[in-house]
Amino acid sequence: MKTFTNRVPYKEFLSIVPHPVIIESLTNKYPVVIEKVEGIAKSRHTLGKIIPKLQHVQMKEYGYHTGLLKNENLVHTHVNPLVDQVTAPSKHEEEKYPETYRKHAWPQVEGYQEAVRDIFGVIQQCAHVMAGHLDGHVIKTLKPDASKYQSLVQMTKESQMTTARSFYYRERRASEDGNKPSFNFHYDRMNMSACIKDFFYLNGQEIEQPDGAGLIFNTKNKERYQLRLKEDEVGFHIGMTYHILSAGIIPAHAHAVYLPNTEGLSRASQAFFFSPSPHIEITPPVQFDNIASSLPEDEGVVPKHIGLTNWQPGMKYTDWNEAIVRGFKKVFFNE
Ligand SMILES: [Fe+2]
Repeated sequence: MKTFTNRVPYKEFLSIVPHPVIIESLTNKYPVVIEKVEGIAKSRHTLGKIIPKLQHVQMKEYGYHTGLLKNENLVHTHVNPLVDQVTAPSKHEEEKYPETYRKHAWPQVEGYQEAVRDIFGVIQQCAHVMAGHLDGHVIKTLKPDASKYQSLVQMTKESQMTTARSFYYRERRASEDGNKPSFNFHYDRMNMSACIKDFFYLNGQEIEQPDGAGLIFNTKNKERYQLRLKEDEVGFHIGMTYHILSAGIIPAHAHAVYLPNTEGLSRASQAFFFSPSPHIEITPPVQFDNIASSLPEDEGVVPKHIGLTNWQPGMKYTDWNEAIVRGFKKVFFNE
């Protein structure tokens, strides 16, 4: 399968804002890859020794598990701790927004929280810089009334809801159709998502990323690409929240997870999702009526309408978040 080639060296990432390669990639629905990010390879190596242990952790031993995937013959562990901490302003709010204020606990795996937080420290810095690239491009393109544009830099710095999600997928049964995704095409709901190089194992031994395995993106020109990162790289892609806040200038990226039908194969990944704080209004700075049609129906997203038809200008992130999570659970999980 084709792989992405657009890469931005870390030093350029820090100095050229907005970087033309970042904008070209993200507007065409490719993730963008920052290369030679300092501090990532070592922290990733530490996490790599710990992350396989997640598959043995009982669901009840940690705070939040979205459950087993519907109609899928594979084991899917999904650890979803908040690296930020958001506290409900009242008991009423806590009950009204169970997904937003859900209590999270880290699984009891020695060194896991420290390893994830180490990586998060580096990725959070990258996310602040990435937000500056996006703000620069959107402001230049839309020329919005300054009082109406919500700065992504500010939103990223003030966010209290960033999640660090570890996924663990184990192999399908031999009878399964190897071409079926492990997690079907979807848009992330957040502003942006970041990931590091996945871990693949064959019968417990770490192996290189197999062809066609891992995150697959559907680009604007309807080509499918595999994301293939190196140990010292960070990939970023865009979610529905920033799609709306940028009035579609920076579109959400349709993506899926594939795991080839190979006995003994498993995949672990570590992703970070940058969300606005709960009270932020998800309203673009200019008139933007065509939200559903700006995310094409032929991108393979199942179902096409998740989150999109629920959005109204002036909606708070909490309200939208609750509606989307309920939608996702109905479609993807046995809940
Ligand atoms: Fe995703």
